Amino acid sequence: MAASSLMAHSIQAPSSVASSSRASLCSTSAPLILQKASFKGLGLRMQRKQSKQERLLVQSIAAAAATMEAPARPTDQAPSKAPGKPATQKPTVIITGASSGLGLAAAKALGQDGDWHVIMACRDFSKAARAAQAQGIPKENYTIMHLDLAAFDSVRQFVENFRNSERRLDVLVCNAAVYLPTAKEPRYTADGYELSVATNHLGHFLLTNLLLEDIQKAPEDSLKRVVIVGSITGNTNTLAGNVPPKADLGDLRGLAAGLDGRHASMINGGDFDGAKAYKDSKVCNMLTVREMHRRLHEKTGVTFSSLYPGCIAETGLFREHYSLFRTLFPPFQKYITKGYVSEDEAGKRLAQVVRDPKLDKSGTYWSWSNDSESFENQVSEEVSDGEKGRKLYDLSMKLLGLKEQA
Ligand SMILES: NC(=O)c1ccc[n+]([C@@H]2O[C@H](COP(=O)([O-])OP(=O)(O)OC[C@H]3O[C@@H](n4cnc5c(N)ncnc54)[C@H](OP(=O)(O)O)[C@@H]3O)[C@@H](O)[C@H]2O)c1
Repeated sequence: MAASSLMAHSIQAPSSVASSSRASLCSTSAPLILQKASFKGLGLRMQRKQSKQERLLVQSIAAAAATMEAPARPTDQAPSKAPGKPATQKPTVIITGASSGLGLAAAKALGQDGDWHVIMACRDFSKAARAAQAQGIPKENYTIMHLDLAAFDSVRQFVENFRNSERRLDVLVCNAAVYLPTAKEPRYTADGYELSVATNHLGHFLLTNLLLEDIQKAPEDSLKRVVIVGSITGNTNTLAGNVPPKADLGDLRGLAAGLDGRHASMINGGDFDGAKAYKDSKVCNMLTVREMHRRLHEKTGVTFSSLYPGCIAETGLFREHYSLFRTLFPPFQKYITKGYVSEDEAGKRLAQVVRDPKLDKSGTYWSWSNDSESFENQVSEEVSDGEKGRKLYDLSMKLLGLKEQA
């Protein structure tokens, strides 16, 4: 695909890429995610001898830079300087990790009919652009914005970019995740935290806290929701949740010690295990929903929910697993456990938690029966532990330097 074709009107890049944190934006794979500061030098070097390919590259970089200077305004409203978002705008949902799997399928389900505008919050522009195009989501119904959850400055920059877009915000879906089951050693983010917990929990925790005020500003009739994707694997009251290594946050001493490898890389302070780190992060996601419900639902009017969409055995989540596992897992889920759901079906389920007026009970963990009927599911003892939820919330606030809303 020609790079210039990726610069559709609906793609927004970070408006300021000068800060040190932007190194993390460049570490992602999209060739167009380049630091603004480097464009000039690149252009000059290329003047020496420009092939047709190089000229095309320079043109596409210039287009990217222009997009970075001026984020496009929503097309379904007149520009407005007034505080509060106009009710004439379509409801807007932000979905993190919408470049593949569940997030992409939900973006498709919500973006297809034009009732919603979807912000695809992704770390890889070109992958997200190709995916949205391949799914046939109408261009006017989505915007791609850069977000790397593993870099907290990127999360803050995303929030600034989103605000600059002057869109209203109705629903935030925290969906992105990494799963590193074969990792022998912990990996750390630029901020110094173990990668799975930093991406799946801390990045989303920061994003949710920052965007809460934006959701509160949505028009009166808005659904005002935060949805954080959970998992059966973090719930030890299920068969899947009992497959070792089991989730267990212990007394959170590893998180309290900073999760930076000096004292601990696991939340419970134990030895590193990539599969457990993922499951622990899912416990954090579900505990966060319950604790946010307890602290913030009445105060803000926002509905907090989690869900287990079913086993979507073929998504990119399993990309780091052994290839034999990737071959056998889908048929095992389809024919033995019967827990398998297609990406399309799972996407519809997530879309339901976003927009179905009936799924408005805050603090709920949603699941679906074999007939695809939604129901309120039970969570494990650990996920329902209110004291643990409080402790996790307070520690996460402290690590991220956040202050509770007045
Ligand atoms: N698959 C299942 O059976 C299953 C079951 C229960 C729950 N879930 C949950 O469903 C959610 C989606 O998983 P999936 O199965 O759809 O996996 P997936 O296809 O791998 O999707 C994960 C998404 O997260 C994104 N992502 C990863 N690290 C990121 C970062 N640092 N910043 C921003 N985005 C990042 C990925 O972006 P790239 O495209 O750039 O890699 C991708 O778009 C996860 O929360 C997972 O725990 C999945």
